[in-house]
Amino acid sequence: MKNEQWWKDAVIYQIYPKSFKDSNGDGIGDINGIISKLDYLEKLGIDAIWLSPVYKSPQDDNGYDIADYQAIDTMFGTLEDMDRLISEAKTHHIRIIMDLVLNHTSDEHRWFQEAKKSKDNPYHDYYVWRDAQDGQLPNDMQSVFGGPAWEYVEEVDQYYFHQFSVKQPDLNWDNEAVKHELYDMINWWIDRGVGGFRLDVIDQIAKVPDLKITNNGPKLHDYIRELNENTFGKGEFITVGEAWGANIDNAKLYSNPDGSEFSMVFQFEHIGLDQQEGKEKWDLAPLPFIKLKQVLTKWQEALDGSGWNSLFWDNHDLPRIVSRWGNDQAYRKESAKMLAVVLHGMQGTPYIYQGEELGMTNVQYPIEDYEDLETLNMYHERKKQGYQEEGIMRSIHAKSRDNARTPMQWDASDNAGFTTGTPWLKVNPNYIEINAKDNLEDPDSVFACYQKLIALRKSYPIFVDGHFHLLLEEDENFFAYMREDENSELLVVANFFDQQVNLPLELDLQDYTILYQNYKDTSGNLYRPYEARIYYKQK
Ligand code: GLC
Ligand code: CA
Repeated sequence: MKNEQWWKDAVIYQIYPKSFKDSNGDGIGDINGIISKLDYLEKLGIDAIWLSPVYKSPQDDNGYDIADYQAIDTMFGTLEDMDRLISEAKTHHIRIIMDLVLNHTSDEHRWFQEAKKSKDNPYHDYYVWRDAQDGQLPNDMQSVFGGPAWEYVEEVDQYYFHQFSVKQPDLNWDNEAVKHELYDMINWWIDRGVGGFRLDVIDQIAKVPDLKITNNGPKLHDYIRELNENTFGKGEFITVGEAWGANIDNAKLYSNPDGSEFSMVFQFEHIGLDQQEGKEKWDLAPLPFIKLKQVLTKWQEALDGSGWNSLFWDNHDLPRIVSRWGNDQAYRKESAKMLAVVLHGMQGTPYIYQGEELGMTNVQYPIEDYEDLETLNMYHERKKQGYQEEGIMRSIHAKSRDNARTPMQWDASDNAGFTTGTPWLKVNPNYIEINAKDNLEDPDSVFACYQKLIALRKSYPIFVDGHFHLLLEEDENFFAYMREDENSELLVVANFFDQQVNLPLELDLQDYTILYQNYKDTSGNLYRPYEARIYYKQK
């Protein structure tokens, strides 16, 4: 039982290291680049950095394919750089949250290299192997990135299971030795001073391929509790599990306030709303706004007191929110701020994905300029299936993971100040107008809005404790809600669209003060495009 959940008012900033800041001109972001931007992050006010993988990796899936959990990839720096990042971040009051990919390794990991040599090799059983079925694949399961989830290895005359790419063989969590190797590795990072962990696709570790079970396997929560007891459960860490298969019931286990699993969970129910039901993320559909409010409300209410939400619009796998559900043209700044207000006003721990605090947008590149394997696999698969080029590109422009991965826009100099060399992925051409330098000089910038929202969370406990009540459930324009605790009330009102509308609520706002507004002034019940306000009153 944890005595204090100190992390509840924390705000976490995600860094995708490859795209954050290059310090040596090779076009790839690196650890020294991150260190050089700690002042910037401290100014923003964040408490922790979730660092996407920097481990040794062939980079088939940009580091989510780990070849050595205890080494830093040379393209990002050295272990000494990493130690320096951890200690320098501390002096900026920032903790480092490592990304743990425990469902699979790279096929270039030493364990897998051994495992595929022979069935008697002590590492063979570290992975999930099956024999052929009547000369065919063990079954018809598909990998998340396209194609079969099974790959044949001649030396052992068996197939290994991979839920992601062929180069990401799944680890066998039913093997005690695997679990203990992972615990030792995690404890080694704990000893180096990290502040927490983000657990990649953690709901998929307890897979049972014979029953075609990928996520939420029967032993999942036993495995997580055992992991907790043997590693981070012993100390004060922020932990967050990534669970695409999360539902209310299991989220209460993942984020049980007794501390037996993680601090909180990433659930993705709201993220899947703008796609055609039962289809893939590429099959676009307009955002059902009322549904969005319902889904977020459901999570707010259900976890209040019995779990903890992670609040996010963006990450390295998702498109940019201002392009997705805001308006990245005429109302880019207004809508970016409105979306920030709606998110940061809720109960849970807010996550900011690099560049979100600048209002960075999606890109529309020709297919040659994409790097992401998921995007490229989909493109080729759908071409083969006869889809029209135009439709495929529309999906890519809307949903490709590379939207989030274009280099961070630091200033208006060449390559947005990200690198002096050639960036590994093209910079968004709008860096001349959208960059950190301009944001920092403008008191009215998107950055200033995020900075303010973080500061509010630190000064008003209601942002953490307040119970959530949705207002105007059926309203087609407003996302409005109350937060309430014993002493105070918070009212968040946001016009979610680009029409000017009147707030259809009779509010006696006499005793309220405005904590934040995204327009210079307010005019009563009239809300301009994407106008958002936060009202506060003491009871
Ligand atoms: C998670 C990561 C994603 C990665 C996948 C496989 O979903 O966020 O980037 O491709 O896991 O590790
Ligand atoms: Ca570099």
